[in-house]
Amino acid sequence: MIINNDTIIKDNDPIIRTKSLPVQLPLSKEDEQLMIDMYNYVKESTDPELAEKKNLRPAVGISAIQVGIPKQMTAIICSDIDKYDNEVTYEYCLVNPKIVSSSIEQSYLKSGEGCLSVEAEHEGYIYRSARIKVKAYDYLTKKEVTIRAHGYLAIVLQHEIDHFSGTLFYDHINSEDPFIKLDNAIEI
Ligand code: CO
Repeated sequence: MIINNDTIIKDNDPIIRTKSLPVQLPLSKEDEQLMIDMYNYVKESTDPELAEKKNLRPAVGISAIQVGIPKQMTAIICSDIDKYDNEVTYEYCLVNPKIVSSSIEQSYLKSGEGCLSVEAEHEGYIYRSARIKVKAYDYLTKKEVTIRAHGYLAIVLQHEIDHFSGTLFYDHINSEDPFIKLDNAIEI
């Protein structure tokens, strides 16, 4: 499948609001290829030359519904700082990821969120759980994984898993007061 900025489903298409269904494991050949294509999209999208050549918008994650396939699959490549202040890159190709626990404490990205399916600007804070535990099958490592995420990775995971229910980031913005400050929310 060719995934680029022309083929990615945008938010003016009702398909983006479709609920995604769990995927049968082991993955079919078709689902494997979809996962590889999504992973390659994210990987190549952050290389300026490739992005220009192949019409890719930079991304840290993509979910299958964004290419019109309502399956619970997402590819994520994102960097963050670990507790020793080292830069770490997280890479996942998740099938059927489920948030099994989440903190009461919230966090939000100071600069707001973006999405391959959203072209208009939507300013405002998106509050999400600061820490989550996710269980999934990871196609990259071919293992069932439990991911304990906080910081940026926790935000990215929640953004992508939201796509499975047809939820977009701006659905979470307070329409009355987009930059409302919540007590005890961590700014990232
Ligand atoms: Co998105």
